This record gives sequence, C-alpha cells and structure tokens, in this order.
Amino acid sequence: MERYLLKDDVWWVGAIDWDVRDFHGYETPRGTTYNAYLVIDEKVALVDGCREGFGPEVLARVRGCCGARRVDYLVVNHVEPDHSGAIPWLIERLAPEAVYCSKRAKDALVLYYGDEVVDGWNVHIVATGDELSLGRNTLQFIEAPMLHWPDSMFTYVREAKTLLPNDGFGQHLATSRRFADEVDTSVVMEEASTYYANILMPFGGQVQKMLAKIGEMGLEIEAIGPSHGVIWRKPEDVARIVEAYAGWSEFKASERVALIYDTMWHSTEKMTMAIGDGVTQEGVDCQVLRLSSNPRSQVMRSVLESRGFLIGSPTLNNNMFPTVGGFLTYLKGLRPRKRIAGAYGSFGWGGGAVKQIDAELTDLGLDMMSPLETKYMPSSADLNACIDLGRQVARRVKEAGE
Ligand code: FEO
Repeated sequence: MERYLLKDDVWWVGAIDWDVRDFHGYETPRGTTYNAYLVIDEKVALVDGCREGFGPEVLARVRGCCGARRVDYLVVNHVEPDHSGAIPWLIERLAPEAVYCSKRAKDALVLYYGDEVVDGWNVHIVATGDELSLGRNTLQFIEAPMLHWPDSMFTYVREAKTLLPNDGFGQHLATSRRFADEVDTSVVMEEASTYYANILMPFGGQVQKMLAKIGEMGLEIEAIGPSHGVIWRKPEDVARIVEAYAGWSEFKASERVALIYDTMWHSTEKMTMAIGDGVTQEGVDCQVLRLSSNPRSQVMRSVLESRGFLIGSPTLNNNMFPTVGGFLTYLKGLRPRKRIAGAYGSFGWGGGAVKQIDAELTDLGLDMMSPLETKYMPSSADLNACIDLGRQVARRVKEAGE
C-alpha cells in the first residue's frame, strides 16, 4: 500500500471512501476520505480513527508506516461516527497504552460504545494547552467546542508545525492524491466551500475565535491535515484556506444573487427567469437553482457564496412545495446571516407558500425584500414586477458590497 509522508514524522494513514454519495443528508458527488495521522517517534501516536468498516484500510496503512511497532497512544479529536466508528475495532487490534480526548469526547465515547468498553481504554482527558511528548515531537491539544460538535478538538504537532483539526478545513473529496497542491485548486476550493456551507456555517463565531486563539497561542502552521479530503501543505494553500475560513465565517460573499425555487406548472419558473433578467440588467451575477434538480448541499454553497438569495415556491394545498419546505428546514439549521433575502411565488386561490417563506426568512434576521406573488400564471405586468424585484435585489446586493 502506498505510503504518504505529510511532514517530518507525520504520516497520513487514512481511508478513501470512493462510494459515499450521501453524508447525513449532504450529497457528496466526489466521495470522501476519513483521514487519520500517525506520528512516529520514540512513542507512536495515532491521531483519529475512521468510519466503521474502514478500520482494515487504516490498520494496513499504520502497519505499512510503523511495521509491528506498538501504537502507544490514540488521540480522539472528535467522536462523530465517521471518525470513531472503527475505534473499538482499532483499539482491539492496536492495544494502545492510552487514549487522549476532551472531557466531552470521553462522555460521548461512553454514550456511543458503553462504559464497560471505554473503561478498558485508559482514557486521559486533555484540555487546551495540554501536551503529550512523543520524544522529538510534542502533541499540543486545543479544544474546539462546536467546531462542529461539543467534543471537537484540534491536535497540533509542534515540531512539524502541523495542525490536525479534524473536521476543520476539510472537504468531502475522494482522490488518489493526498495533497491540495496535487489536485485542481478550483475543485478543492469548491469542495472546501461546500463543506463549510453544509457543516460549519452555523459556527462562524467559533471559527473566528479559533483563528484568534491560534494567533494568540503563536502556533506556526506550515501544514493542515484535516480529517476529510486533501492536506494543505504548501504555504499558498495554507494561506488560501485560512483566508477563506476568515471570509466565510464573517459571511463575506460575492456580488451575486441566488434564485432558489421549485415549480408545479411553470408559473414560479417564469417568475424566476424574469427576476433573473432584472438581476443581470443591473450587471450582477445570478445563479438559478431549481430544488428538484440540484442537491441541497450545492444550493447551500450558493447561499454561502452569494450576497443575496430569493426563495420561490408555488402554493400546494396552502403550503410550500415539499422541496422548498425541506430546503428551508435545512437552511434554517445552518443559520445564514448577513444576506439580502426574500420570497416569491405563485398560487391559485388561497395562497400560503410565500407568506410562510417570508416569515421563516424574517425569523432568521435576514435583510428582507418585500414578497412578491402571482395568481395562477404571471401576466406581463406580473413579469415586469418580477424584473423590478430582480433589479431591486441586485441594487441592494451592490450597495451591501460598498
Ligand atoms: Fe467528519 Fe463531524 O465528522
């Protein structure tokens, strides 16, 4: 099996999941990886596990890197089952002397795997600033609560100046290449952006605090090994992803309007196209995303990257169209901020969808446009109102960037 040296004494020993296409509701067209890292020194430490079923691949890579040597320590940065699912299996085979994790991670490990199992693992609870010497190398731990679970933790390999931040800076991207500089940058950044939009968007404040904490602690970072996707090892790649996180966490976005909609009998579709005409008349980019044709994780990336978005829906039985209702539920959980937003759509008699969408987006505290509705099929006057809405939202998007 190919060996991958990340830096100095740090090796990648993860597993590649070429097939996964749905990651708890997040569509992953390019698959993913479950990255684990091995630091080989006087003592050997494995940082992170992998999803259940991928243990044999990780174990084979560990053996390929350190032979029959004992893995002395296992660090659990995060307990979500894509990283801890194979940990009981791995511990049975590697028999590490001790397991290191945050207090909340230990609590979660007990809840997932049972105290009778976890009691046998010799778990040491660590907190920010705690260190573990391996010989030449020192592991330094940094708690990262809500990035993106309460138990989350980063591990920093001080001498290699390498940060292992688990889900932070990740991408759902399966590739035979291990490093960002070996893959098309636009693909890596597209997946990093999609990942941020669908996993980390609600935690922008915590991302900013973490970036500040890394600065306060004076950590020099020459490489970042996330738990999914490729590793950032070139200075320009490290700078690119850190800068992207700084911008995304502040909800900085492009001068673009996303029109997110679905349609029954083409009325809302016609409205969408007219609104899009209005947006482009103002010289602003417009992205049109029909919900029944686009994975919601891609639509969320558009919300992350666009300064404005409108949601359009027909009324079906006094309610939103089901795809729109489902998307709105997903969007509310991810809590976008600092966006110009609005609702539009069509109805036959009673209406309901536009009012509901408008109320939900208003509850999110977004900068709202006045809602726009059409009865049955948009007339030419209705279409002119749509063009006008497009022009207005585009103007507000431009002003917001000034
Ligand atoms: Fe990759 Fe939060 O698990």
